Amino acid sequence: MASTSPRIPHHVAIVMDGNGRWATRRFLPRVAGHKQGVESLRRCVKACADRGVGVLTVFAFSSENWNRPVEEVSGLMELMVGALAREVPRLSKDGVRLRFVGERAGLSPKMVKGLVDAEEATAHNTRMQLNVCFNYGGRWDIAKAAAKLAAQGEPITEASLDRAMALAHVPDPDLFIRTGGEQRLSNFLLWQSAYAELFFSAKLWPEFDEAALDEAIAAFQGRERRFGQTSAQVSAPQGLTA
Ligand code: IPE
Ligand code: IPE
Ligand code: MG
Repeated sequence: MASTSPRIPHHVAIVMDGNGRWATRRFLPRVAGHKQGVESLRRCVKACADRGVGVLTVFAFSSENWNRPVEEVSGLMELMVGALAREVPRLSKDGVRLRFVGERAGLSPKMVKGLVDAEEATAHNTRMQLNVCFNYGGRWDIAKAAAKLAAQGEPITEASLDRAMALAHVPDPDLFIRTGGEQRLSNFLLWQSAYAELFFSAKLWPEFDEAALDEAIAAFQGRERRFGQTSAQVSAPQGLTA
């Protein structure tokens, strides 16, 4: 096995950050940045599928984003409902299976129906999985999984927690990208990113294009993933290490 990873990451996770700044720099309302962010996501989904990424998980709205001004929150909710109606047929045509990950209590009935319908409409697709984390927080995910196990009287272990969490249907992310220049996790996939390779892009999310994605993938391919082992162990041909 080579010491680096000259292959496409199977699971890419992205904190799509920088929409507000993109808009503000253009003297536009912040919601215009979020609208442009949807365009960027459409481009990114296609680029990931074309490159052979198996799972793409994106952070669209965090548990903490409710604390933003009311107009921005309602603008984001409206945008989501509109985007669902528009994008689902295209995603389905492209073989993308959509799942929404996050707390649904607190979302409008119209929104919840939109999420459920989109999941059902794309459930048979197998080319790529797209997880949209909406009203999601890593701490929410861990606490909810623990509460579920406790209610069932099940022992809390790493394996049982893993199975009870929101992304139990996919392996852990290989590559974790954050756009917008900040170098923090902001409560995204705290549990699942234990061994993800982190990549921080200075590009604002609406500007994150194919070349930026390729840059992140190239950085990933240059990393040596050791999972606690030594470099000699992971670079030795399989079967030769003790
Ligand atoms: C990310 O962009 C999108 C959401 C959080 C919904 P931001 O809105 O955080 O953009 P900046 O960070 O203010 O530029
Ligand atoms: C993280 O971005 C959430 C999403 C991209 C949906 P934020 O803009 O909310 O993160 P902070 O507040 O800068 O940490
Ligand atoms: Mg931000």
